[in-house]
Amino acid sequence: MSTQSAKERPEGLQFPFLDDDDTVATVKESKTFFILRGLPGSGKSTLAQAIQDRYKDACKVISVDAYKIVPAIRSAIPDEYAKVDDELVEYCKRDVGVIVLDDTHHERERLDQLFEIADKYRYKVIFAEPKTQWRTDCLQLKEKNQWKLSVEELKKMKPSLEKEFLPMYFGWFLSKRSSEILRKTGQAFLDELGSLKNFKKESKYFAPAIEDPKIKIDLTSYFVKRPPGVLHCTTKYTDFGKAAGAEEYAQQEAVKAAYGRGFTLSISALFVTPKTVGARVELSEQQLPLWPADADKVTPADNLPKGSRAHVTLGCASGVEAVQTGLDLLEFVKLEKAGNKGEDMGVLGGGKLQYFNNGMWMLVLSKKVDVRAIFSGYYGKGKLVPTQSTNKRGSAFSSCTII
Ligand code: 2AM
Repeated sequence: MSTQSAKERPEGLQFPFLDDDDTVATVKESKTFFILRGLPGSGKSTLAQAIQDRYKDACKVISVDAYKIVPAIRSAIPDEYAKVDDELVEYCKRDVGVIVLDDTHHERERLDQLFEIADKYRYKVIFAEPKTQWRTDCLQLKEKNQWKLSVEELKKMKPSLEKEFLPMYFGWFLSKRSSEILRKTGQAFLDELGSLKNFKKESKYFAPAIEDPKIKIDLTSYFVKRPPGVLHCTTKYTDFGKAAGAEEYAQQEAVKAAYGRGFTLSISALFVTPKTVGARVELSEQQLPLWPADADKVTPADNLPKGSRAHVTLGCASGVEAVQTGLDLLEFVKLEKAGNKGEDMGVLGGGKLQYFNNGMWMLVLSKKVDVRAIFSGYYGKGKLVPTQSTNKRGSAFSSCTII
């Protein structure tokens, strides 16, 4: 099949990951599951083919039709899915950049299996539904679906697909390439900070006070956990629809239009506290509409500029949850707002180091780091996972290594 340009493509096939060059470039340097959803006959296979055409050899389509799995409302997930997952895992192990899953995906249990694989192999997830005019019209779908499903059978399946499926959180998910760059930048910062004399003087916040200059504080081991999946900047924590304002956020035109679209985020600083290590994100005018009005408020009295909390969590200390990184960043912003610029600790690696007491360090980058990211949702279980270099005990007091 020849590649169609955006103009030639039918209206129902207009998606940023097909038409927008920045998005396509970001997807190309990422690992992504496109999870198609919709009733049988709604146009999922045509959409899958369009994605295949756009990403060519970088893309694999897995259609459950090939496994003869008939879409239906059922009490248990058919065993044939184990074979589908074998194929999927095979592609994940080969780091295939774009994997399209062509199935109705009307069952939460099946989706959970996919989210688990996505987390394990660090793929981001983008849901896509065909925009065909007949996608919800069971009379027309009856004529179009290859399984010869009756109108009644289609109608039974419809409610599970119509229900809005909200993620644990919306946000920008960094491309694989950008994640690697940011991780490396963060790693270099931790290494340098851990060796710094001034940091050692204040090391009581991280480990027993250390006077010996030969001892390096191993901050990489100190921050024992990282968020699952890919690095991200959360916009709205929706808790699968249970969080206050979740539905309203998801329904916003700006959110709907941005879903599955590529963005470039600007990283202006890195910060370390006794609880978290993160990267500060400076949101642009184009990105701020996706930022919820209440995200920067911890108490009702807080009045910080919109986007103050925007960050990427790089790691958390033992026993600390990822939500803490944003709260820690707000503490820095509050101090800055009160006129406290931190104590100047000189130049370190890529920027100027500032110390705000209580073990709060910020490296203001002399050159901002641009990272590419896709706006989407995180749908998995969200449990923090150990970093590769986790030391076995993972406690603050085992975090000093002699170099
Ligand atoms: P963060 O790293 O961007 O702060 C899963 O818990 C993820 O959801 C975390 O990685 C954290 O993202 C975010 N998160 C958890 N609870 C949150 C909350 N109450 N408000 C905002 N973000 C939250």
